[in-house]
Parts: sequence; structure tokens; C-alpha cells
Amino acid sequence: MKHIKLGDLDVARIGLGAMGMSHAYTGAGSDDTESIRTVHRALELGVTLIDTAEVYGPYLNEELIGRALKGHRDEVVLATKFGLISHTGRGSGADSSPANIRAAIEGSLQRLDTDHIDLYYQHRVDPGTPIEDVVGTLAELVGEGKIRHIGLSEAGPDTIRRAHAVHPVTAVQSEYSLFTRDPEAQVLPVLRELNIGMVPYSPLGRGFLTGTIRSTDQFADNDFRADNPRFSADNFQHNLRLADEVAAVAGQIGATPAQVALAWLLAQGDDIAPIPGTRRVSRVEENVGADAVQLSAEQLAQLTGLPSAAGDTHNAAQMRMMER
Ligand SMILES: NC(=O)c1ccc[n+]([C@@H]2O[C@H](COP(=O)([O-])OP(=O)(O)OC[C@H]3O[C@@H](n4cnc5c(N)ncnc54)[C@H](OP(=O)(O)O)[C@@H]3O)[C@@H](O)[C@H]2O)c1
Repeated sequence: MKHIKLGDLDVARIGLGAMGMSHAYTGAGSDDTESIRTVHRALELGVTLIDTAEVYGPYLNEELIGRALKGHRDEVVLATKFGLISHTGRGSGADSSPANIRAAIEGSLQRLDTDHIDLYYQHRVDPGTPIEDVVGTLAELVGEGKIRHIGLSEAGPDTIRRAHAVHPVTAVQSEYSLFTRDPEAQVLPVLRELNIGMVPYSPLGRGFLTGTIRSTDQFADNDFRADNPRFSADNFQHNLRLADEVAAVAGQIGATPAQVALAWLLAQGDDIAPIPGTRRVSRVEENVGADAVQLSAEQLAQLTGLPSAAGDTHNAAQMRMMER
């Protein structure tokens, strides 16, 4: 698979998001054996960037990835995130206080069964802790060898600039796909100016762009998408058109819709490494196949010109935690 650079960090340009193996989506946690096989198959296919977070499960996903990577640790760029669980008694919400970062990193290292994290992200910007203090603490962890690179997630341009002034930021992870174009206007230009990579999360629109979600009846009650505005009855029918257009392009070139959605993202630049999530071997094979999919200039223009999806990407409480 083609490799690209996120800042100065080399990664295969299609990664693997592990969240859905343990968290958020229907079927999470139901088949850890298949999930571990999926990680191993990803590595065989050349994937290097594996993405998890403390809050997935919580903790269960890091434990699963720690088990899956036994004997494979040196083959991967291991990414995890802190800041959505407070270990300092602050209560719910974001906690990126230095004390909380110090507590979180020790737990993640233990669960992932490793002595260092390759890319350590702040999961959401914490309004209660200046970003300079957050990055200052992360820079200390770099100095101590506990983490190698620093990342932010759903941070806005001003936070990115302030963070990068303290210590180089390697990557920003934000939702980005044909379903969610928000980073294009303000965040991507700043990342390019500062030589920071973009890691699009939910690059398949949480599965929507694959064309396999035709009704919200497919979701269990505790599925993240069950109360997500993008998937509400009002917006769902409107948004189906996007999935249909992606499927139409896929039909023209003998690819699958998932591959077309990923190929469009890959075509946006050599500083972009999406992390499609799946807990199934067959789908990781399909998604990695996007590395070989070439879209014509006309197809790229057709996809780029699609209308915005209707509805916010997160519910109201979650939206308040995102810098836009
Ligand atoms: N930083 C953040 O705040 C944040 C937020 C969300 C996610 N993330 C990260 O980003 C990763 C990816 O995002 P995501 O999992 O939310 O969304 P996604 O990658 O857009 O889509 C995942 C969904 O699509 C399904 N899927 C995957 N490949 C498929 C294919 N080829 N055909 C049909 N369906 C397919 C998966 O189901 P199966 O598993 O059943 O295949 C899953 O339900 C996560 O795993 C996580 O690591 C980060």
C-alpha cells in the first residue's frame, strides 16, 4: 500500500479504526475473535495505523487491541486518545488537565501492553485547560519516551495554531468524508500551512456511504446512530441520495461504494490517512482495496459537487464539545 507522511510520521495511507469492535455500533463486542482476525488481516495487507481510544468500551477496545498486537507491536503506528474520561474527580465531560493526562497515559500503556504510544491524541478540546498546558504535558511525555507524536481531534484553527506553537502537532483527527465536509473550509488550510497531517475519522460516514444502511431499523437502541441527527427520519431520506451517487460511481468502475468513498478522500491529498472502521475480515480487505482505485477527474468532480448531508454530525451535547 502507498505510504504518506502525517507531519514527519510515516503511515500506510489507509488505517484501521477499531472503535466499532467494542463500542458505539450495533454488534460491538459480539465477536472479539473476528475483531482480532481483522486486525491481523489488516497488518498482512500493509495497514500500519491502528486507531483506538481510552473511552471506547470504555477501556475494552484498548485491551482488545493490546491482545491483537501481541507479537506485532513493531509493525504498527499505534494511536490512542485521552481526555473524555476524568480520573481526577472532575466529573463527566472533557478533562485534559495535566494530572488527568498523566493518569490516562499510564492506563493506556498498560491496556495496550506497550511502553509507548506512537500517536497520542487529545480526544476533544477541553475548555477548562489551556491548550498550552495540554501540549506542554504531552511534550513532557515525548521527552520521557512514553509517546512519540502528538495529535488533536476536532480542534479548530486557533487551537491548532496555539498547540503547534508549543510542540509540533503531527495529526488532527476529525470527521471528514463525502458525508461530512466540515474540515475543508478552515481546518485543512491551516494543517497544510503548518505541515500537519489529517486523519479523517468515520470516512465511510459511519457506514452510510457504503450503501448498506437503508433503514435506521437496522440499529440497536444503543447504537450511536440511533439518536444521531444525520440518521433521523427527517434527514435520512435526503441523505440516501449521497449514498446512491457514490454507488453509481462505484458501478461505473467495478469498485464498491466503500472503496469509492475512500478513494475520493485519498485523492484530496498526500497528507490524508483515513481510518475506516470495521470488525470484519472481509470488509477490511474491501476497504484496503481502495488503495488501488483510481477515480477520473470527472468522477472526482461529480463526487466533490455532491450536496451537503442534512443534519448535524453529532447530537447537541456532543456538538458542544467540537470546535468548528
Ligand atoms: N476522534 C473521534 O472523535 C472519533 C469519532 C468516531 C470514530 N473515530 C475513529 O474512526 C474510526 C472509523 O470511524 P467509524 O467506525 O465511526 O466510521 P466509518 O469508518 O465511517 O464506518 C464504520 C461502519 O461502517 C461499516 N463498514 C465498514 N466497512 C464497510 C464496508 N466495506 N461495507 C459496508 N459497511 C462497512 C462498519 O460495520 P462493521 O464493523 O460491521 O463492518 C461500521 O458500522 C473509528 O473506528 C475510530 O477509531 C474517532
